[in-house]
Amino acid sequence: VPVHTLLNLDEFEELATKKISKKAWAYYYSAADDKITKRLNTEVFRSILLRPRVFIDCTECNLDTALLENQVSLPIYVSPAAQARLGHPSGEAGIAEACSSMGALQIISNSASMTPEQIVANATPDQVFGWQLYVNEDRSKSEAMIARVNKLHAIKFIALTLDTPVMGKREDDQRFGNVIDELTEQSSPESFKNREKQAFAGMDPSLTWTETLAWLAKHTALPVVLKGIQTHEDAYIASLYRPQVKGVILSNHGGRSLDTSPPAVHTLLEIRKYCPDVFDKIEVWMDGGVRRGTDVVKALCLGAKGVGIGRPPLWGLAAGGVDGVKRTLQILADETKTCMRLLGVQRVEQLGMQHINSRLAEGQ
Ligand code: FNR
Repeated sequence: VPVHTLLNLDEFEELATKKISKKAWAYYYSAADDKITKRLNTEVFRSILLRPRVFIDCTECNLDTALLENQVSLPIYVSPAAQARLGHPSGEAGIAEACSSMGALQIISNSASMTPEQIVANATPDQVFGWQLYVNEDRSKSEAMIARVNKLHAIKFIALTLDTPVMGKREDDQRFGNVIDELTEQSSPESFKNREKQAFAGMDPSLTWTETLAWLAKHTALPVVLKGIQTHEDAYIASLYRPQVKGVILSNHGGRSLDTSPPAVHTLLEIRKYCPDVFDKIEVWMDGGVRRGTDVVKALCLGAKGVGIGRPPLWGLAAGGVDGVKRTLQILADETKTCMRLLGVQRVEQLGMQHINSRLAEGQ
């Protein structure tokens, strides 16, 4: 099946599922326990309705925006997801190539199947990356990685993931065999193999606000975005750590960590209600369950500046390599544009609460 015949992101998941091993599928698909949060991530968007306005010239419409002051062509970015080479040999570098052609930002996983140097090697001059960090129990290992990342000018920030002090219970992975050991055999070069094992085995569960951020400040001047924020309280505390902390990513790790934790839409609504100033102080991004342009628009209306996709680029890559990821991003971008035009909006910054009815979602 050629990828240009696929029409939406779900069709990419379907095709990828047929193409990759059961083990690889399980690793990408799986989520914690009963997958209630994973399901809710997509379902919550259905409980928000759009409010289109008419008689507004929408001949022109573009998705240009800035993420942490970096110009990008899309408010949609690629969330950090481990092990892209499980699905296709071009791996994270293939995703980078697709992002470059679309002007999209990519966050590289700490547990990527290629080194950050390899992933940014063919970056175009204006291409923007973040690098995601899991702090290792042996801090010297994380420090060595951060030192390497500091030298890569395409990498503009560090996304520190906080929602996984321990791994959630993922039964699909248990059922089909844990891929982690196998992955380390596929990965290269040698130094990476060791890092990979540690990235999974050595996540430090003892992190705390002041100590960990002070430690990180000692090792990098890059701005920090805290990933895995799930309450308005933590979004507010994060905003107190400006200017080092420049943003938060509202995320439940695609439902892979704590089942029945809230979808980012709920957290966006909480922040609007209890501490709306947070939106002015730091950038609020979100991910989880975004599969349609209408989902992207709804998140933007609620105050998100960036909207991340985790599984879709992996399915896109597994289904059709670099072209599969390009088409995945293109479909989502086109759907987002169509939605904006039908709402009577020409630019991303114009989207706001006036364009949605979130009463049903607020009741949840
Ligand atoms: C992830 N995610 C993730 N997050 C992170 O901070 N570091 C990582 O290494 C990974 N690895 C990873 C692997 C796989 C296979 C998946 C599916 C997810 C979480 C990811 O960044 C993001 O939060 C979610 O995937 C978003 O949800 P959707 O778009 O997959 O529904």
